[in-house]
Amino acid sequence: MKGKFITFEGIDGAGKSSHVEWLAEWLRGQGKVVHVTREPGGTELGEELRALLLREPMHLETETLLMFAARREHLAKLIEPALQHGEWVVCDRFSDATYAYQGGGRGLDRGKFQALEHWVHEHVQPDLTLLFDLPLDVARERIVLANRKLDKFEQERVDFHDRVRQAYLERAQSNPNRIQVIDANNSIENIRKTLEQIVSNRCL
Ligand code: TMP
Repeated sequence: MKGKFITFEGIDGAGKSSHVEWLAEWLRGQGKVVHVTREPGGTELGEELRALLLREPMHLETETLLMFAARREHLAKLIEPALQHGEWVVCDRFSDATYAYQGGGRGLDRGKFQALEHWVHEHVQPDLTLLFDLPLDVARERIVLANRKLDKFEQERVDFHDRVRQAYLERAQSNPNRIQVIDANNSIENIRKTLEQIVSNRCL
């Protein structure tokens, strides 16, 4: 039996991360073995790469290759073995983030993205992707209210985040069976209810 692979996506400040752990707990309540993880990161090497990626300015292709290098390690060490054991993986971001940030935000050539995606995970795609969407000004306000040091991506200008958001929405339009858009400008209770419904219908 194969497990399920669920990913969370959205612009910075969309509030997705607080729902990742909640969904994992809810799934555990349904008797599933669930791994919670994130990208970039999820392995010892991946977390080292994350620290560099979120801090250091670098060439766009270097950034993209490092994202996919961390992903390859993550798939090999955690995601693929877990799925093969029939366990579930709930991951905070995956390749759609590269599509949106390096592709939409920074203008990476789409063919290069597709080549890397094909190379790194031709046979593994999320069973379900939950895309947390909300207006940029609401997302910005949440980031400001959190009052912490901003990483390299959070420090980008509004037009960058706008391109990231549009790329995510366009990706959702071209993958309607996999990507579900969630209205993230909603109460925590309503978002949880929506998640419960979608995951029950699509994965259980
Ligand atoms: P997080 O703060 O949601 O954990 O994500 C870390 C940052 O990394 C976020 O600003 C998005 C960015 N990112 C990319 O630019 N490309 C990627 O492929 C991934 C996974 C994340």
